[in-house]
Amino acid sequence: MRSQRFSILVWTIAFDVTLGFQTCRPAPIIDLGYARYQGFTNTTTDVSSFLGIRYADPPTGVFRWQAPMSPSKVTGVQQAIDPPPQCYQGAIGISPTNPPHDPGSLVRREVSPTTSEDCLFLNVYFPGSVVPRKPLPVVVYIHGGGYVGNSASRQNGEDLLRLSRNSVVAVLIQYRLGLFGFLAGSKVKQGGVLNAGLLDQDFALRWVQQHIRKFGGDPSKVTVWGTSAGAGSVLQHVVARDGRTTPPLFHSVITSSTYLPSQYAFNDSIPELLYSKAVNQTNCATSTDTLTCLRAADVDVLEAANVQINSDGFFGTFVTVPVVDGEFITQRVTAALKQGKVNGKALLAVTNTHEGNLFVDENTTTTVAQYATELFPGLGENDGLTAAQAYASVGTPLDQIQAIMGEALIICPTYFLLDAFSARAFKVRGCRESLLELHRPCTLRAYLRFHPEIMAKTSAIISLRTSQYSAFEYTNLASATLGEACPPSITANL
Ligand SMILES: *[C@@H]1O[C@H](CO)[C@@H](O)[C@H](O)[C@H]1NC(C)=O
Ligand SMILES: *[C@@H]1O[C@H](CO)[C@@H](O)[C@H](O)[C@H]1NC(C)=O
Ligand SMILES: *[C@@H]1O[C@H](CO)[C@@H](O)[C@H](O)[C@H]1NC(C)=O
Ligand SMILES: *[C@@H]1O[C@H](CO)[C@@H](O)[C@H](O)[C@H]1NC(C)=O
Repeated sequence: MRSQRFSILVWTIAFDVTLGFQTCRPAPIIDLGYARYQGFTNTTTDVSSFLGIRYADPPTGVFRWQAPMSPSKVTGVQQAIDPPPQCYQGAIGISPTNPPHDPGSLVRREVSPTTSEDCLFLNVYFPGSVVPRKPLPVVVYIHGGGYVGNSASRQNGEDLLRLSRNSVVAVLIQYRLGLFGFLAGSKVKQGGVLNAGLLDQDFALRWVQQHIRKFGGDPSKVTVWGTSAGAGSVLQHVVARDGRTTPPLFHSVITSSTYLPSQYAFNDSIPELLYSKAVNQTNCATSTDTLTCLRAADVDVLEAANVQINSDGFFGTFVTVPVVDGEFITQRVTAALKQGKVNGKALLAVTNTHEGNLFVDENTTTTVAQYATELFPGLGENDGLTAAQAYASVGTPLDQIQAIMGEALIICPTYFLLDAFSARAFKVRGCRESLLELHRPCTLRAYLRFHPEIMAKTSAIISLRTSQYSAFEYTNLASATLGEACPPSITANL
């Protein structure tokens, strides 16, 4: 009691300095059993934030490429007022060929001081200064960044509350990225876990089921939403465990620009190649147990390999991505969707125009057919020519290449997802007037029309048939200029 009062006093003084006494005050203390956290209420917005709540123990040392584990007990009240450290960040591919065989040029590496391998934290936001008495629907947001970058705190959870008119509790989660989260290969399967980053997300969703009531959230009304690789992650959770996750971890899903790169079997030649590169670049090649050696590697050395291996990837792609692991993800996502094996009861899918443009080298001199076979090394020369033919009517060769990138990795996976949810699916096509805007302006707008309560009403009023791929077309959004056909020659090989 004494110490708690003391900590509040210290905290208030700290607040005075760091946040401004006028706009913030201490939020209630939430007891999670293993730890107690005190966030802050922004008195301007009347939103309470809890930043940097630990949901798993540090996945470091021998726990690298192991499943996340429940946090150890901490006594005393922890102040949840600072953004947590971000996970180690990788890079986007810049190689003109795929798979890359030559070591690329050395990439400059910048590690922010707030980066840590101990990064399994989440941020929680609820409306008001006290825990909502009537449980609210919950939105869990998974950030994008190609499975190699970004963090929970680069999005402001307060935006979600504002857009829902303060009718949801928001949870923004972090997960292991790059080599740390997605190193694959048969050695990892034998001695650890594959798709560690996805297992982190799954663990965070379980944390929500267990704890969100304490923040005023209703665990039976969880919507999981992601952007880009975050939406790709949502897709993985939709098909996880053959679509039979019990008890369910979410009710509805929202995907904004679903990023679905080629998802190889964990022991395919490409993941095995990436594993060998990681071993080589961490001086583990002569070790008799390479995985143990990787676990003992200095984090800076591992991070250097993470950046190098990812930047060696084909231009505009990310290489440390989910694989078919045989347990959590039992088959290719596209195959699972075709069989309708999905977790979740309803879907809102958002795509933008020009999804692929950011990920194509604007100065490329490759032919369209070559591009298709570089993007998908599994395609034969004839498949490349068929793809080129299918896109021949779409503008310049660069337009065609951008359309292939956007449709194959983002637009078509979205349609497969819509098909899998059939009558319970809704689609929004947003705008991307400026490439710099990326995904966000449109998808936030879309969110206005969607959280579980609104969705229930919407579905009653508008019976959209996804077989026709009708879209909500908001009057203030520009319409797409490129076609959205999915040539079977491309999609069959994803
Ligand atoms: C509180 O909200 C206002 C309005 O959005 C914002 O300007 C201010 O920075 C917030 N304060 C904190 C400490 O987040
Ligand atoms: C990959 O692993 C699966 C299942 O463990 C096995 O059946 C298959 O033969 C392996 N493929 C290769 C190329 O080793
Ligand atoms: C690893 O290093 C060895 C020796 O330098 C080299 O022969 C091999 O090709 C490298 N493998 C990879 C995947 O980089
Ligand atoms: C394409 O060329 C322009 C002009 O030389 C250059 O500014 C730009 O950075 C190049 N783009 C890429 C992706 O290399």
